[in-house]
Amino acid sequence: MVQQKLVLLLFSLFLTAFHKHALADQIWSTKQLHILEALWIGSLTDLGVDPSNKFSKDPIAVNLGHRIFFDKRFSGDGKVSCASCHQPLRAFTDGLPLAKGMGQSTRNTPTIIGTAYSPWFFWNGRADSQWSQALQPMEAPSEHGGARTGFAKVIYGDATYRSLYEKLFGVMPDISDKNKFPPKAAPTGAIQTRTAWEAMTTKNQKKVTGIFVNIGKAIASYEGLMIPGPSRFDNYVDSLLSGKIVTDDQILTAEEIAGLKIFIGKGACTQCHNGPLLTNNEFHNIGLPIADISEDEEGRTRGAPIVQESEFNCLGPHSDAKNNDCAELDFIKLRGISLLGSFKTPTLRNLNLTAPYMHNGQFATLNSVLNHYNQAPDAMIGKSDVLPLELTTKELDQLRYFLLSLNSYINVDPRYLLKP
Ligand code: HEC
Ligand code: HEC
Repeated sequence: MVQQKLVLLLFSLFLTAFHKHALADQIWSTKQLHILEALWIGSLTDLGVDPSNKFSKDPIAVNLGHRIFFDKRFSGDGKVSCASCHQPLRAFTDGLPLAKGMGQSTRNTPTIIGTAYSPWFFWNGRADSQWSQALQPMEAPSEHGGARTGFAKVIYGDATYRSLYEKLFGVMPDISDKNKFPPKAAPTGAIQTRTAWEAMTTKNQKKVTGIFVNIGKAIASYEGLMIPGPSRFDNYVDSLLSGKIVTDDQILTAEEIAGLKIFIGKGACTQCHNGPLLTNNEFHNIGLPIADISEDEEGRTRGAPIVQESEFNCLGPHSDAKNNDCAELDFIKLRGISLLGSFKTPTLRNLNLTAPYMHNGQFATLNSVLNHYNQAPDAMIGKSDVLPLELTTKELDQLRYFLLSLNSYINVDPRYLLKP
C-alpha cells in the first residue's frame, strides 16, 4: 500500500516536472509577445476606401468585378480569365512555376489575398493600385492577350454588364460603330492592334480608355474582399494575448512553437516578413538563382520608373485621388544598389497552396526555400540582403512546420470564390 502511494507520488512529481518544463519552453518575453501581436491577424486594420478608386467599397462594383474576374470573354482567344491563373482554390495562384495564359509568362503567379493592403503591385512593383494593376494582364500578350476596345464592347453588348456599369459610372458612350471603334485596338500589343488604335480619334481613344479604367476599378473592388481568416498561429496568439496559459500541442505543436521562435529570432525572417500579412511590402534582393542576367531580373530598378511614369498611377488623370493622397508615389525611391535585383516581399499565409515559390518559381518546395535562406549565396545580380543562417536540419523542419501553421481559409462569403 505504502509502496503504491510512493509510486503514485513519484509519478505525479514526474508529471509536474514534465509539465513545468513544457510550459517554460514556451513562455514569451514581453518584447516577443509584442512581435507576435504584430504578426497576428487581429492587427490587420480595416481598409478604408482606396483614395485612387472611389468605387472600391461599392457593392455594385464588387458584383461587376466578380463577374469580370471569371469571364473568359475578356481575352484575345476567349479562353483566359483572371481566375485561370488566380484560382480561388489554390489561394488565387496556379500551381505553376511560370504563369501560362495565351502565351508563356516569365513570372510566377502571386496570390491576390491581402494585396489590397499593398502600396505596390507586381513582383517589381510597377503599378501602385489594384485597379491599375488589373489593366496590365488584360492587354499583355502572354496573359489575356486582349485589347481595350474589345473589352469595352463586351460590357457594351451584354445587358447585365451594361446595366451594372451604368449604375456605377453613368451612361456608356455609343461605341458600336466598327469603323470608329475597331474590335481590337490598343496602344500596346501586336502591330495591327496598335495601328488600329492610332487610327482612332483622340476623343474616341479617351472614351475607350475611360471604360477600360472602370473595368479595372470594378475588378479591384472585388479583389478587396480577399482577406485571410485566422490561422492556427492566430488562434495561438489570441490565447496568449488574453492571458491564457497555452500548453504545447493545445493549439500549436511544440515543434511549431520552436519554429516560431526561430522565425522571430535567429532566422531573422521578420526583418522583411512582418505585419499581419507577413510582408513589409518592400523590395529586397535575397540572392536567388536566376537563369540569365537580363533586364527583367533588375527587379525594382525597372519597376520604379515604370510606375512613376504611368498615366494610370495615383497622380494620373484616371485616379480619383487628391494630390496629397499619393505619398508613396511622391517619395518613391528610384535609385540605389538596394533596388537592383530586388522583388516584392510576398505574404507567407497559405504556403500550403502557393508553391512553387519566388518570382520565377525557382523553388518547388518549402524545403528548398529554407535551404536557400540557410546558405544565402551571393546574389547573381545586385547585392543580397540576407546572410547565411546555419540552422540544423531539425531547426529547418521546425521553421517549416511553423510556416504551415499560417494557413487559413479566406474570410469571405464562399460564393465570391465561385464563378457567379
Ligand atoms: C496568365 C496568368 C495570369 C492571368 C490571366 C492574370 N494574372 Fe495576375 N498575375 C500573374 C502573374 C504571373 C503575376 C506577376 C507578374 C509580374 O510581377 O510581372 C500577376 C500579378 C497579379 C497581381 C499582383 C499581386 C502582387 O502581390 O503584387 C494581382 C493583384 C493580379 N495579378 C490580379 C490579376 C487580375 C485582376 C487579373 C485579370 C484581369 C489577372 N491578374 C490575370 C498571372 C496572371
Ligand atoms: C531581406 C528580406 C527578407 C528576409 C530576411 C526573408 N525574406 Fe523571405 N522573401 C523575401 C523576398 C523579397 C521574397 C521574394 C523574392 C523573389 O521572388 O525575388 C521572399 C520569399 C519568401 C518565400 C516564398 C513565398 C512565395 O510565395 O513565393 C518564403 C516561403 C519565404 N520568403 C520565407 C522566409 C523565411 C522563412 C525567412 C527567414 C528564414 C525569410 N523568408 C527571410 C524577403 C525576405
